[in-house]
Amino acid sequence: MKRIKVISVFGTRPEAIKMAPLVKELEKSEFIESKVAVTAQHREMLDQVLSLFGIRPDYDLDIMKERQTLSEITCNALKGLEKVFLKERPDLVLVHGDTTTTFAGALAAFYSHIKVGHVEAGLRTHNKWLPFPEEMNRKLTGAIADLHFAPTQTAKKNLILEGVKEENIFVTGNTVIDALKTTVQRDYIFKNDVLNKLDYKNNKVVLVTAHRRENWGKPLEQICIALRQLSQEKDIYIIYPVHLNPAVWETAHSILQGLKNVILLPPLDTDELHNLMAKCFLVLTDSGGLQEEAPSLGKPVLVLRNETERPEAVEAGTVKVIGTEIEDIIRETKILLDIKEEYLKMANAVNPYGDGFASKRIVEGILYYFGIKKEKPEEFIPGRIPKNI
Ligand code: UD1
Ligand code: UDP
Repeated sequence: MKRIKVISVFGTRPEAIKMAPLVKELEKSEFIESKVAVTAQHREMLDQVLSLFGIRPDYDLDIMKERQTLSEITCNALKGLEKVFLKERPDLVLVHGDTTTTFAGALAAFYSHIKVGHVEAGLRTHNKWLPFPEEMNRKLTGAIADLHFAPTQTAKKNLILEGVKEENIFVTGNTVIDALKTTVQRDYIFKNDVLNKLDYKNNKVVLVTAHRRENWGKPLEQICIALRQLSQEKDIYIIYPVHLNPAVWETAHSILQGLKNVILLPPLDTDELHNLMAKCFLVLTDSGGLQEEAPSLGKPVLVLRNETERPEAVEAGTVKVIGTEIEDIIRETKILLDIKEEYLKMANAVNPYGDGFASKRIVEGILYYFGIKKEKPEEFIPGRIPKNI
């Protein structure tokens, strides 16, 4: 029997976290030959995830440079992946989400006449500058893709409005919830002992991440100034694992280093981050992934952006988009720190993004597309127990 050859392509931390459960699922299928090619658009932050999930890439383009530009990433990924695809001639290339690796991977596959599957397809703000360049990366990848693995019904609707045929869309849930199910443990002991010593019951531990390109410069400075002021609140601890990008690292450290009640850390291993999120009081973030993870752990999220392409948890009331103005960040955070009813309104565990079976549905979708399975996998519907998975 000839197996379907699938190459999964990724390059940054969030792509790796969200592709890891899928790579494991592809490896389990007797009908699929699975290979992995990483661009290493990120280096240390990618390697952390590869090691946590035990993934050894078949190809590693090792393209990361300090303060790399978008054009450099695009050109180097495109050229490197072309060689991989010409050598391997896969039946399908899988890319994930909205990074420059995603777009370059889809384009390189298209140039080589290879089918493309887009995981986490269809998220939109409908503003090409926000998030930049991710909204456009995602749209361009969607224009190339043959199979669209949309995490939610909203994402499916966005694709249909853009003319994608319904038969090529699979609503799967987000694979990040698959990953979260394997990392969060009740009696988890942190490798970083600072996190073991925090008093999560009597203090209010606020987890912060902020790194987005559109927040570099003034918005990130404002975020850090707001955190500096908030660090004087009673019983608060602000934990900020800082992204390795020098544009982020330098700003965060120059404003926040040495402050009482602020703990700046290097990027945490994903199991550490997930378990810290499970224990913390509140999340402040501009990250996409954290907006999906925190609601499933019942943690309120204040989003440090002006728009989000993930409206589902906002609609469910557990996520609020608050922008990057100093007074807005302080006001909204203090409401949650000080007013119990307001906190409880947002601290509901909701799972609009997945049920832990997204990777299985994606593999079933691939098998259906290539004619091996007769039935399209059942769509992910929040709150519904899957029948045939
Ligand atoms: C990239 C993605 C963004 C995603 C983010 C996740 C694009 C355009 N951006 O942004 O969508 O949200 O990853 O974190 O694809 N660096 C290191 N070591 C690392 C990683 C980064 O030193 O392991 C430094 C390097 O100096 C690098 C810089 O960070 O040049 C920026 O990395 P880059 O991938 O270009 O941008 P991100 O802001 O990480
Ligand atoms: N994450 C991590 N360590 C950290 C910060 C984040 O493992 O120190 C994880 C987080 O749980 C989520 C993902 O990285 O799964 C989000 O990645 P990032 O914020 O870099 O990118 P985005 O989601 O904004 O694209």
